[in-house]
Amino acid sequence: MKIKLTQRLLALAAMVPTGSRVADIGTDHALLPCFLIEEKKAALVIGTDLHQGPFERARQTVWEKGLEAYIELRLGDGLTVIRPGEVDTVVIAGMGGTAMRKILAEAPEVVGRLQKLILQPMTNPETLRFWLQEQGWVIDQEDLVYEDKQYYQIIGAVPLSPGNTVHCPFPCGKDVARFQELAPYYGPLLIQNRHPLLAGLLSRDLEGMQMTLEQLAKATQKEARLRYKEYAQRTEKIMELKQWLSVVNPSSI
Ligand SMILES: C[S@@+](CC[C@H](N)C(=O)[O-])C[C@H]1O[C@@H](n2cnc3c(N)ncnc32)[C@H](O)[C@@H]1O
Repeated sequence: MKIKLTQRLLALAAMVPTGSRVADIGTDHALLPCFLIEEKKAALVIGTDLHQGPFERARQTVWEKGLEAYIELRLGDGLTVIRPGEVDTVVIAGMGGTAMRKILAEAPEVVGRLQKLILQPMTNPETLRFWLQEQGWVIDQEDLVYEDKQYYQIIGAVPLSPGNTVHCPFPCGKDVARFQELAPYYGPLLIQNRHPLLAGLLSRDLEGMQMTLEQLAKATQKEARLRYKEYAQRTEKIMELKQWLSVVNPSSI
């Protein structure tokens, strides 16, 4: 029976260029590598994991599917187990944004030879978007998935080159320029394309921010008051974005 992926993993797979050589870092169950081979999206996949348990799980799935000839599994930390030029696409999903940034930053020889990065951070997506921008990567695809009561942002990026003219600092369109400061957090393309799930993600964040604001409002220290001001401004901007997303013809406002 063919592998059935969840929405989140399907969205990751959809960003993989057809025929690519892929490394799935932190593969765990190896469902994505198996799917990419079964669907003939990837020519080969290297699945890696830092921990023995997930590595064994991955081995089991690949063996059950009889895909050992196409999927190589390696035990090790981040991109240290990948040689430069061995793959052209790297997927890292299901880890914190800061950990993912560290994995990328520590392997410039491998990252420098890539054609595509596909990232799904569980936290701090902004840290990855800032890193991509600093390192000359262009965010060319973004998606947002709601699964198991959680929102997942997925970022696809390509290296900046004369051919990749889609490069824009966050975000590009003139009617979304006023949301520039939110773009690293909520995605320049998710905003620009008015992703249908974005308003839900904003509402969820606003709820959390409202509680933080109430706490900060009670504090008397100067630092807390400054943070309150910062948070209040951010909340207002998010509310403005949410309002903009709900308008049928945004260029009219
Ligand atoms: C939550 S799972 C995500 C699995 C899969 N990528 C997905 O999105 O469904 C995170 C996996 O990353 C692995 N991991 C964490 N840090 C890692 C690192 N530095 N290098 C490789 N794998 C790592 C963990 O062992 C775990 O199996």
